Amino acid sequence: MDWDEIYRKGEVFWNKGAPSPPMKQYLERHPTRGRTFVPGCGHGHEVAFAVAHGLDATGLDIAPTGIAEAQALYPQIAERFVVGDLFNPAVELRGAFEVVLEHTCMSGLPPKLRADYRRGIDLTLRPGGLLIGVWFINPDLDPGEEGPPFPFSVADLTALFADGYEIVDDYVPDVAFGGREGRERVRVLRRAS
Ligand SMILES: C[S@@+](CC[C@H](N)C(=O)[O-])C[C@H]1O[C@@H](n2cnc3c(N)ncnc32)[C@H](O)[C@@H]1O
Repeated sequence: MDWDEIYRKGEVFWNKGAPSPPMKQYLERHPTRGRTFVPGCGHGHEVAFAVAHGLDATGLDIAPTGIAEAQALYPQIAERFVVGDLFNPAVELRGAFEVVLEHTCMSGLPPKLRADYRRGIDLTLRPGGLLIGVWFINPDLDPGEEGPPFPFSVADLTALFADGYEIVDDYVPDVAFGGREGRERVRVLRRAS
């Protein structure tokens, strides 16, 4: 998939122009510290919220146009947005983060790339670190329609991180963007030390 072309055409249907309500709620309720990584950050709303919330956050996206648009939207933190591939992160990103924030990066990936996603998290999140995810479990697709967003069951999520991570929080959030009510799951995983 050519993500940059999608940005160049302005077809960013997933972009809500604001940080994810369940992510905001989680960070407001749970004191969170440490260098924070937002893979597939797009226009960077979760990065901006994390920084405003006191976190030392970096957003990564494979689409240069998406990153340029994030920098234009949030010029005061432009240096926090970087172009790169989660599946082959730059040396300075490897093992660099205590926290990863997941919001619709995973659900944009075809299922065959999920193992690469997990590997990207393993390469960037330190042992003992937290993967705080708002996982888009049940996108509203028509019968027979294929994503993105790709349907991703709770069982798929459990299986993907069964080995080397423990679940520390897990619930269906009571806040959501309009149309996503009941379709997302907050699951927070701690990487084994
Ligand atoms: C569905 S969009 C979500 C964007 C943003 N998280 C949001 O909620 O608005 C998925 C994003 O992941 C990015 N992406 C896809 N594969 C990637 C990879 N291998 N490394 C980094 N970013 C990637 C895409 O360019 C796109 O911006």
